[in-house]
Amino acid sequence: MVIEPKIRGFICLTAHPAGCEQNVINQINYIKSKKAIDGGPAKVLVIGASTGFGLASRITSAFGSDAATVGVYFEKPPAPGKPGSAGWYNTAAFEKQAHDAGLYAKSINGDAFSDEIKEKTIALIKKELGQVDLVIYSLASPRRTNPKTGVAHNSVIKPIGEVFTNKTVDFHTGVVSEISINPATEEEIANTVEVMGGEDWAMWIDAMKEANVLANGVVTVAYSYIGPALTEKVYRKGTIGRAKDHLEATAFEINDSLKAIDGKALISVNKALVTQASSAIPVIPLYISLLYKTMKAEGIHEGCIEQIQRLFEQRLYNGSTIPTDDKGRIRIDDWEMRPDVQAKVDELWKIADTESLKSIGDLAGYHGDFMNLFGFEVPGVDYTADVNEVVEVSGLV
Ligand code: NAD
Ligand code: NA
Repeated sequence: MVIEPKIRGFICLTAHPAGCEQNVINQINYIKSKKAIDGGPAKVLVIGASTGFGLASRITSAFGSDAATVGVYFEKPPAPGKPGSAGWYNTAAFEKQAHDAGLYAKSINGDAFSDEIKEKTIALIKKELGQVDLVIYSLASPRRTNPKTGVAHNSVIKPIGEVFTNKTVDFHTGVVSEISINPATEEEIANTVEVMGGEDWAMWIDAMKEANVLANGVVTVAYSYIGPALTEKVYRKGTIGRAKDHLEATAFEINDSLKAIDGKALISVNKALVTQASSAIPVIPLYISLLYKTMKAEGIHEGCIEQIQRLFEQRLYNGSTIPTDDKGRIRIDDWEMRPDVQAKVDELWKIADTESLKSIGDLAGYHGDFMNLFGFEVPGVDYTADVNEVVEVSGLV
């Protein structure tokens, strides 16, 4: 069939297999253009492996370090006449490339928050890999059913304590407007921490440790975000920030629990990027469009793959001590947070409106990246061609 984008706000209901495949190939080629990661991981589990930072982590492990990878994700398979989700096609493309390169790659599609998927993943690792030496935790989800209580929790993106009013942009139309978001209730804060906090990460690591599938010296990394003062009321000091505080605190607990096997739990604070998760957060798309413009002008713009390549090469596997901030976090958002970059974004923010954004912001870059998430507007792909929407993931278990 010929697949066209069907956009509904910050989601696209369709995805293009050839575009997704090209995106994955481009990321693989980027990793191959870099030198191999010396002392990199050998057997890797990526939880949230099909898009964004998780996919980039899987690609970097496989093609930068020849690692065997197991990917866990929650994606919609295609059916005749009904395209699957982007993460499905990304994984199909990744596994095809990995298998062609002689690399072990298998996937599990299902709810990572459930006991069932944890058990299934652990059984697979036990049987086929024995143990893993790196566990990447890169889930982004709006809901979670806690397997211990059976209660389903929904996260919200709201400020805490007071109404937050600021500028935002509709990244499809370029219209800048003011939005006000009411503060979260205590219950909404608690629910957001249930979904995006660290409890599930700890459950994964506990279960894996219990099953003896973590190698001696194992490293586990979860991704966090901080961002500037501009967005802090809705992000870092809002509901999602509380969840990230919890995730970051959980890193210390997991770290203690891994001492017996010389393991480490780490947080990596990554850069703001266009992903399915971040495009749903108000204010952030305007910030990102000004940030992209500024970082591109400075020659320091990065996407997920550049971020994760640098994380592996210069932080996790740099052959020496892993540099962290005063809270023990790896900072690969260092270029985003550079004072000169932030000063420039602040200056642009003050004058940003529908008219000025056309020249001071990188809305085209934002919009293009958003379309790319779903395999659309990828250079070199013929969107008029008939493509087979039913694509299999070769390593799906
Ligand atoms: P994403 O939406 O691209 O990826 C989310 C992944 O989680 C996908 O693989 C998806 O299939 C999987 N997933 C979601 N729910 C699942 C479930 N119930 N079971 C199994 N898999 C599930 O998101 P992303 O932006 O790459 O975010 C990953 C992490 O990086 C998050 O912790 C996010 O906060 C963090 N982060 C994002 C940014 C950013 O700007 N995008 C910046 C810094 C940190
Ligand atoms: Na991810």
